[in-house]
Amino acid sequence: MKKFIVFILIISIFLVLINNESKEDEGTKYLIGMSQANLSEPWRIMMNEDIKEAVKKYRDVKVIFTDAGQSSKKQINDVDKLLDYGIDILIISMNNSEDLTPIVENVYKKIPVIVLDRHVKGYDYTLFIGPDNKFIGEETGKFIVDILGDKGGDIVEIQGLLGSPPVSDRSKGMRSEIKKNKNINIIETVVADWQKDKAEDKMREIIKKHPSIDLVCAQSDAMAFGAYKGIEENKLGNIHFLGVDGLANYNGGLSLVEEGILKGTFTCPTGGKEAIEYAMEILQGKKTIPKKIILRANKIIRDNVGEYLNKKYKKEGNEVRASILLGFAQTGMESSWRDANVKSIEKAAVDYGIDLDMVYSDNSQEKQIRIVREFIRKKVDVIGLSPVVERGWEEVFKEAKEANIPIILCDRKVTIDDNNLWTSFIGSDFIEEGKRAGRWMIDYFGNSKDVINIVELKGTRGANPAIERKIGFEEVLRDTSNFKIIKSEYANFRMDMGKSVMKNILNQEKGKIDVVYAHNDDMALGAITAIEDYGLEPGKDIIVISIDGTVPALKALAAGKLNFAVECNPVLGPQIMEVTKDLFENKEVPKQIITEEEVFTQENAKKELLTKY
Ligand code: AHR
Repeated sequence: MKKFIVFILIISIFLVLINNESKEDEGTKYLIGMSQANLSEPWRIMMNEDIKEAVKKYRDVKVIFTDAGQSSKKQINDVDKLLDYGIDILIISMNNSEDLTPIVENVYKKIPVIVLDRHVKGYDYTLFIGPDNKFIGEETGKFIVDILGDKGGDIVEIQGLLGSPPVSDRSKGMRSEIKKNKNINIIETVVADWQKDKAEDKMREIIKKHPSIDLVCAQSDAMAFGAYKGIEENKLGNIHFLGVDGLANYNGGLSLVEEGILKGTFTCPTGGKEAIEYAMEILQGKKTIPKKIILRANKIIRDNVGEYLNKKYKKEGNEVRASILLGFAQTGMESSWRDANVKSIEKAAVDYGIDLDMVYSDNSQEKQIRIVREFIRKKVDVIGLSPVVERGWEEVFKEAKEANIPIILCDRKVTIDDNNLWTSFIGSDFIEEGKRAGRWMIDYFGNSKDVINIVELKGTRGANPAIERKIGFEEVLRDTSNFKIIKSEYANFRMDMGKSVMKNILNQEKGKIDVVYAHNDDMALGAITAIEDYGLEPGKDIIVISIDGTVPALKALAAGKLNFAVECNPVLGPQIMEVTKDLFENKEVPKQIITEEEVFTQENAKKELLTKY
């Protein structure tokens, strides 16, 4: 027993010394822990290099790296050790999302956590930075269809470590595209755990069974190169090899494409640089930290690899200006959320010294397209757009592309075939907003088995938030049997329409309404007025739920007339200007920046009113 106590004492002293030594080394102010899944993949080695490079900018910051060696058990121990060192923030690139999600949730209760590259389940983390793997898979599939043509061909798929999100997302995305050509057949799918040597061994076996392969699609450049080496001795020159990662290092995807070994690859930035930059903003208490940063994937072929190898981003066709000109095609002034959004954009433009030409489209897509065309004619540097509706943008987006003017989608997404026609999206996760509204409602009614009749007031027909908030809300209701949407009508995000539509529904449905779910505050506030005019008590006789979380909604919550509001963060200005500036300086920008959002209740509304506005 004595020995055990002495042992514990020695360990404790050791850890205290490390902690002090770690913190006091060269006046370290911030200690960052980086838990790495493994260092057997070139991409992960590059991730750590990107982190080391980025942290050089900060004198008083130290990073402690751990390597889990592809073992979740070891990664869990690594995280515990990092916490014992007294780190101020954890950056983690997980070996396996399932295994590590509980650990991330637990650490997040104590210190900020940046999740890199592989998603955790849920939202219990500070910031996610990573690729859109489904998009990478889809683009790979489109590339395969393009290479093989109508004739099609036999392909081999080489997957990474099973159980990691990139594997399933990339495979699903690729398969969704190649199924459009019935002559393309996946004759073998093998798992090589992201390892070059395993891919080489597997390919050597496959080629004996299938000598007439047309294309090998590997989920990383390292595995693509291994596959190539595996059949090199067979001198089969007509096989195409595709990879992912596009690293600029020795035997990285860029040089493999340049040498003609790979037909093409897709960049998959490690996010290491961004992780350090955001970690410093978090540690320094910066307010506007997004929830997700989705990094861009670019297709690399022989024709454009030079731009990436030598980092030469050409910018032709734009006039040279003293400051940046951002043309912004706004929706209209339909709601108080829009007011807050416009104010945020205008203030940020001043703060960043960017010339802002904001034009309103009165929620008419036809007018908004005309505005975008006018920006193209004026040769603005960047176009900002809050698209009134999701569809109908292909033509004018192609015109902007031809004019070499990038488009930043702000607050609302579009649905088009080629997502390369727009550069970045900055805004909310509207589906999650709808889910949060639905979850609160179900929780509010507890275990009641009574039928709950719901009236849904929808935003503008065809608008991304109206479509996705409905999807999210209905997804949550799918697991219930007593919640019924008895009326679902458009009120275009407007207060006056929320009132008139609700008045008609009250007259039709009489007292049968239990809940109003409005896609935004303005329609909810209009409905509240109609409920009062009808002689009922909003917030009591009829439960009212909305999305946005504007000041008028907080006031209605505090007055007990509104029951729950999901935040839709309107303060997008700083991120829009940051991306605009980076684009103008030819820097890489994220594909998506998803904002951090909370929820408001009657209990926390008063405090929010005091602190937030
Ligand atoms: O796109 C965001 C939505 O547009 C807001 O929820 C609504 O108030 C605005 O009109």
